[in-house]
Order: sequence, then structure tokens, then C-alpha cells
Amino acid sequence: MFRVGLVGCGTIGSVHAQGYTRMEDVELAGIVEVREDHGRAMAQLFHTTWYPTIEALFEEAEVDVIDICVPTYLHRGYVETAARAGKHVICEKPMARTLADAQAMIDVCEENGVRLFIAQVLRFFPQYRKAYELLQAGAVGQVGTVRTTRGGVFPTSWNDWYASAENSGTLIVDMIIHDFDFLRWCFGDVRRVYAKSLRGRDLNRLDHAFVSLRFENGVIAHVEGTWAYPSGFQTRLEIAGTGGVLEHVGDEEMPIHLSLRERIGRSEGVAVPESPLAKDPYQLELEHFLACIQSGAEPIVTARDAYEALRISLAALESAATGRPIELEVRS
Ligand SMILES: NC(=O)c1ccc[n+]([C@@H]2O[C@H](COP(=O)([O-])OP(=O)(O)OC[C@H]3O[C@@H](n4cnc5c(N)ncnc54)[C@H](O)[C@@H]3O)[C@@H](O)[C@H]2O)c1
Repeated sequence: MFRVGLVGCGTIGSVHAQGYTRMEDVELAGIVEVREDHGRAMAQLFHTTWYPTIEALFEEAEVDVIDICVPTYLHRGYVETAARAGKHVICEKPMARTLADAQAMIDVCEENGVRLFIAQVLRFFPQYRKAYELLQAGAVGQVGTVRTTRGGVFPTSWNDWYASAENSGTLIVDMIIHDFDFLRWCFGDVRRVYAKSLRGRDLNRLDHAFVSLRFENGVIAHVEGTWAYPSGFQTRLEIAGTGGVLEHVGDEEMPIHLSLRERIGRSEGVAVPESPLAKDPYQLELEHFLACIQSGAEPIVTARDAYEALRISLAALESAATGRPIELEVRS
């Protein structure tokens, strides 16, 4: 039996909470929320207790694992508190807003002998996992180029934190980090990054970015991200090799799209892609992390993988800001 304490129950926290309530042998021990009314409502919905602080949760409830779903710039503080209290940690992606914070999170968990898992969920989406497996089996021969697209409407959130480049890192750090992690899983480390984005232009909550990556193994990828659509959320993946092309087109899984600009004012949260599977990728991911705690096994995505994905995102952000390509020092 795992007793999980959830910190932050907004858009993704409520997806995690729902996942835990569907698992056998997992108890949602409590929800820590800064907004009392919202926290109480979420606690009622998920049959648990609201706590105003993580310290109050530790005082009153038995907890084995802390799952952190607060905005990115707040991850480090909660990871440190949880690790020092001897709790294993699951934390949402991007693992932090800076590499210094990300390294501190890895260090504090190591020092306190607890596990740290970062929810880079794309590796648990069946279409991306299948693409990875096909590539490993050499299905398209030697890969030359890759194109990915991800995005939709500009997200809404608690305190509008996504709109602060300082806090969210724009869609380059917040969203296309999913693609950076997936591509690094498939093709290894990145050598050079060049990016163009709308950052710094006052476009009333519109963001769009193009990032080119050159991998150590010679593969070239073009990653496009958008928060400029009127509504909705779409993903695409195209991998071209000497033997053929592998494609995933998100739209085809949901054949009809209605995209209306006037819905913007009413839309809530950030897009969390849906899945027709009995267990959604978020639940699969959380179950995998808990199974790794039980068995001591390495997860499909490690905290170091998440750190490296953040390194690519931050290099892209720097490139977009300076107009220069950024060379990444190879570490692994
Ligand atoms: N894996 C994914 O696909 C995915 C999807 C969405 C968000 N995320 C990530 O999850 C994190 C949260 O994003 P979100 O969209 O759910 O944000 P959100 O704004 O919808 O939710 C954040 C929640 O945290 C609460 N909160 C804020 N400060 C707090 C504090 N100090 N203590 C306790 N609670 C606090 C807020 O009240 C809110 O309910 C971010 O890092 C984001 O990048 C990941």
C-alpha cells in the first residue's frame, strides 16, 4: 500500500488525483493546496483531506510518496521539503525552471536516500512508445530528419503563471520539452540548438516557436510548438529514414475538430491530451513510478533524462533570445 500526498491540485494535479483513486493499493492521503476553497473541493471530489501546508500534511497523515503538481518554479522547494522528510518524490515536468534548481533536486533526493521521478509523460503515450520501439527495431532504416509539432490554445492557470516567461519559461520550457525528451530517448544527446520564437513580442498571450536540433548521431530535428491556436490541442510526429517514413498525426485519432476563437475566454487550464485507453498515459506513468519504488528498478525516464531535456529547452530559450545557435557540451 502506497500513501500518496499530492501538492497542487490544478489542471494536472487533478489528473494525477484521479489516477490514484483508480489504483488498487494506493491511498490518496491528502491534498496540499494554497487555495483553501479549491483544495477543499478537490479533497471532497477525491475522497481525501485538504491541508494548507505540506507540514500540516506530515503532522496528521502517514505518507510514503509526495507528488508535486505546483507550477514549475515552485518544484524545488517542495522536493527539498519532501526529501528531507524521507519521502519519495514524483514531480511534474519540466523538473525545474533552471538547471541549478534541477541539480539541487537530484542532489537532495540522493542525500536523503529517496527516489525522484519526473513526469515526462510522452514516453507513456502508446503512439510515441510504439514509434520508439519501431525505431529501435530499425523500421525506417537510418534516420535522417524528424519533424514534430505540438500545441493549441494559450493555457490558463492559477495566477496566470504560464504567461510569465520568468515562471514558466514559455512553451519552449513548458511544452516542447515533451518532444525534446522523446527525441533524446530515440536519438541520444543533442549537439546544437537553434530557435526562433515570439518571446519578447507583446502579442497578447500568443506564443509560437521553431527549434532545430542537431543530434550527436547526425539526426536533424525540427520541433514546432504553439500556444497561438484559437482552441484545441494537436500533435504530429514524422521520422524519415533510408527505409521509409514513420508518422503519427494526432488529429486522425480525433477526426473532428471545432476550433472557435470565441471559446478562449471560457477555456480553462492547459491542454492535457486525452486518450481512449482504459488507463490513460498519466495513470500508466504514475503506476510505473510506484512499481519502481517497490522493486528498486530504474524508471523508463530518469531524473537525469529530465535534467537533460531541460538543458535542451534552456539552450533553445537562449538561442531564441540571442539569435545565436547554442552548442551543448556532451555529458553522457
Ligand atoms: N505532463 C503534462 O502533460 C502536464 C500538463 C499540465 C501541466 N504540467 C506541469 O504541471 C505543473 C502544474 O501545472 P498546472 O497546469 O496543473 O498548473 P495550475 O495552475 O492549473 O495548477 C497549479 C495548482 O497549484 C496550486 N498552488 C500554487 N502554489 C501552491 C503552493 N505554494 N502550494 C500548494 N499549492 C499551490 C494552485 O492553487 C493550483 O491549483 C507545471 O509544472 C506544468 O508544467 C504537466
